[in-house]
Amino acid sequence: MFRERIERMIPDADAFFAAEQEWKSIRVNTLKISREELLERLQAKYEIKEMPWYENGFFVIGEDIAKNMEYYLGYYHIQEAASMLPPLVMQPERKDFIIDLCAAPGSKTTQLAMIMENGGMIIANDISISRIRALTHNIQKAGAANCIITNYDARYFDKTGLKADKILLDAPCTASGKIIKNKKMIEKWKYWRVKKMARLQKALIRAACNCLRKDGILVYSTCSVEPEENEEVIDYALQRFDIEVEKIELKGIKTRHGIKEWNGKEFEWAAKAIRIWPQDNNTEGFFICKLRKC
Ligand SMILES: C[S@@+](CC[C@H](N)C(=O)[O-])C[C@H]1O[C@@H](n2cnc3c(N)ncnc32)[C@H](O)[C@@H]1O
Repeated sequence: MFRERIERMIPDADAFFAAEQEWKSIRVNTLKISREELLERLQAKYEIKEMPWYENGFFVIGEDIAKNMEYYLGYYHIQEAASMLPPLVMQPERKDFIIDLCAAPGSKTTQLAMIMENGGMIIANDISISRIRALTHNIQKAGAANCIITNYDARYFDKTGLKADKILLDAPCTASGKIIKNKKMIEKWKYWRVKKMARLQKALIRAACNCLRKDGILVYSTCSVEPEENEEVIDYALQRFDIEVEKIELKGIKTRHGIKEWNGKEFEWAAKAIRIWPQDNNTEGFFICKLRKC
């Protein structure tokens, strides 16, 4: 069923299933070191190439990239290349008040803090206390000083009454875009899991829309390829809340637009959202949509 669904989504399903990832990816932590200095230090140990879509991202080949002084000191963060995109789409500014609703283990929170040069404020929230341990560790290690960590069920975050300039909803998902790292996940794929996750995602986006100030920006992302977890969730929010989709334009990476038709439903706005397919850039699959509150 999974293959048949992929074939309905894209013409190059074989390439999707065959995609492989040879390089690992890292993000320079410019809160602690310049890109040039880190490059100089790492080039002595690893084979490195630049990431065409992000100046602070690098692809690396070599053993034990999580076992060296530069890593322990928080000079870089090991982060999937496509996962660096939602913060770039958000374009946070120094003065912003941001809520990262599902933040753990903090790859995107620390990237946001870095882009904001530790200005403004980020509420980094997650429901899982064990994952909050990793979030706390990563925030501390990155030297991200503008973060407040909270432990709420984000489905009810609007009960806080907070209104943010920008919200990141990097939603929990079935993670089918991770197929490039783990082909065996196909064996465990179950449609009921997709439907269950979609219900949670709809509850989360409802709270996210309520926590946004007028003109505020919401970035919704998942590493799932399922339309039920992506386009259908956005469509649910568009029908209920005063929000509109903004077009995403990224340079240096091949993107495709969202799925425009699924199970009889049409998503005209999907031309403005993006999908990153694993076979296009040798990354995990990702869906990203940028919304503005009217
Ligand atoms: C895709 S991961 C987030 C990854 C993170 N943004 C990063 O870049 O490192 C999704 C997260 O959502 C959290 N989560 C799941 N249900 C939640 C809920 N109801 N409220 C808040 N967080 C939730 C999970 O614990 C998990 O850490």
